[in-house]
Amino acid sequence: MRILFPTAELAPLARVGGLAEATAGLLKMLRMQGAEVTPVLPDYGNIELTDEESFDLDVPSWCGPVRARCGRAGDTGEVILIDAAGLARPHPYVDPNTGDGWPDNDARFFTFSAAIAALAGVLKPDVLHLNDWHTAASIGFMADPPPTVLTIHTLGYQGVCDANWLQRIPFDPWRFSWYDVANPLVGAIRSVDKIIAVSPNYAREMLTQEQGMGMHLELERRGDALVGIRNGIDTSIWNPETDPHVAHPYTAADVEEGSKIAKAALLEEAGWDDDGSLILGVVSRLVDQKGIDLVAGLVPYLETIPAKLLLLGSGLQHIADEIRAAADERPDLVWAVTDRFDEPLAHRIFAGADLFLMPSRFEPCGLAQMQAMAYGTVPVATRVGGLVDTIIDTDENRDDGTGFLTITTDLPGLVDAVHRAARSYRLAARRKAMRKRGMSIDWSWDEPARAHLELYHELAD
Ligand code: GLC
Repeated sequence: MRILFPTAELAPLARVGGLAEATAGLLKMLRMQGAEVTPVLPDYGNIELTDEESFDLDVPSWCGPVRARCGRAGDTGEVILIDAAGLARPHPYVDPNTGDGWPDNDARFFTFSAAIAALAGVLKPDVLHLNDWHTAASIGFMADPPPTVLTIHTLGYQGVCDANWLQRIPFDPWRFSWYDVANPLVGAIRSVDKIIAVSPNYAREMLTQEQGMGMHLELERRGDALVGIRNGIDTSIWNPETDPHVAHPYTAADVEEGSKIAKAALLEEAGWDDDGSLILGVVSRLVDQKGIDLVAGLVPYLETIPAKLLLLGSGLQHIADEIRAAADERPDLVWAVTDRFDEPLAHRIFAGADLFLMPSRFEPCGLAQMQAMAYGTVPVATRVGGLVDTIIDTDENRDDGTGFLTITTDLPGLVDAVHRAARSYRLAARRKAMRKRGMSIDWSWDEPARAHLELYHELAD
C-alpha cells in the first residue's frame, strides 16, 4: 500500500500545533504496520535532507518553477519537500514580527497544492491522503485523481480567499466556490472519496450548525463518506516510565508515589511551597479555540478550592497578555510560561500536575488530555469534540470515570467541574482508581492506524 501524505506540519520538522503531532504519530505507526507512506511538506527552508534527489514538477506557470526534493530527514526518514517561491519562511503561517498571517498564504498553499497534484501524477500512489485546507486545493489540479482521503483536523481554518483564485483551478473550479469567495476546504469536502474527522464525536458535531463552521450541510450531503477516527498519541514519547524529563520514572502501579515526586519538583520550579493546594496544569496553544479566557476567569476561585495554576503555552499575544497579567497580579497562585514552547516543561507538567485543564470551545480531537491521562493526571475538560470520546466523567460513571467534563462550555461550567474534580481527587481511593484507569487505556496510534489502513484498502483494492 503506497500512500502519498501531504501536510503543512509534521513533527518535529515543522510544528505549530496538534496537526504536527497527529500526522507524525500516524505516519510512524502506519509505517510500522507495513504501509509505504511518503509525507510531503512545503520546503520551509530549515529542513536538512540527506540522500537527496530532486526533480522539477509540472505545475501551472503562475506557480513559477517548483521542485520536489526527495530525501531523508533525521528520524522522520523519507520525505518530499516542495521547493517553490514563497514557501520558505521562518513560520509556516504567520509573520513572527506582526503575528499576522503571511499576506500571500493563499498563493503559497495553492502552489503547494498544485505541486501535490503534479507529484501524485508522477508517483501514482494507491491513495492520496490530504490533511486540512493547506493541501485541499490539490484536488482541483488533477483531471483523474487517485483514490483520495481528506482528514479534517479542524474546520476552524478553511483557507478562504479571493474568488479570483477560482480562475486558476483547472478542473471543475465551481467546487471551490463558496458564496463570493474561494474555499479550498469545501472543494475537497465535495470531491474526495472519504473524509476523516479526527474523532467520532467531531464527525457528529460537524453536521450541526453550531460546530459545522458553515460546512454542516456540505458534510451532510457526503453521507457515509464521512467517518470519525480518533487520533492517538506517540506512546514512545509520552510515557512516564521512560520519559527522560521525569526525574523518577513511574507506572500505573506506583502512580501515587511517582506523581507526588513529580509534583514536588514542579512546585519547586514555580517557587511555591507545598501548602496542600492542587496544581491545575495547562499545556496549550494560545488561540481562541482553547478557552484560555476561561482559565483566566478561574483565578478568583483558586483560593477556595484551594488550587494553583501552572500554564505553559504560546501563540496569540492578547491571550498571552491576559495570562501574564493574572500571573503578575497573583504570583502566589499563577505561574505562566508564555514566551516559548518548552517541551521538557510540558512533560514535567503532565507528570506533576494534579488536574489537567482543557476548557476548549471546540476540540476536534485534542491530544493533551490523552497525554495527561498517560501520566496519571486527571483531565477536566469541556464536553466538546474528541474530549467526549476520550474522557469519562467520574460523577456520571464512578466505575469507569477517568476525568471530568463540564456541563456547559463557560466559566460556571468550568468552576463547577474543577470543584467536582477537587472533591473526588481528595478521596485517595477514587483518585488512585481514576489515575490507573486513565493510564491503562491504550492511547497509542495502533488501533487508529489500523482503521486508516482498512479505509485505504477499501478505496484502493
Ligand atoms: C487540530 C485540532 C485538535 C486535533 C489536532 C490533530 O489542532 O484543533 O483538536 O487534535 O488538530 O488532529
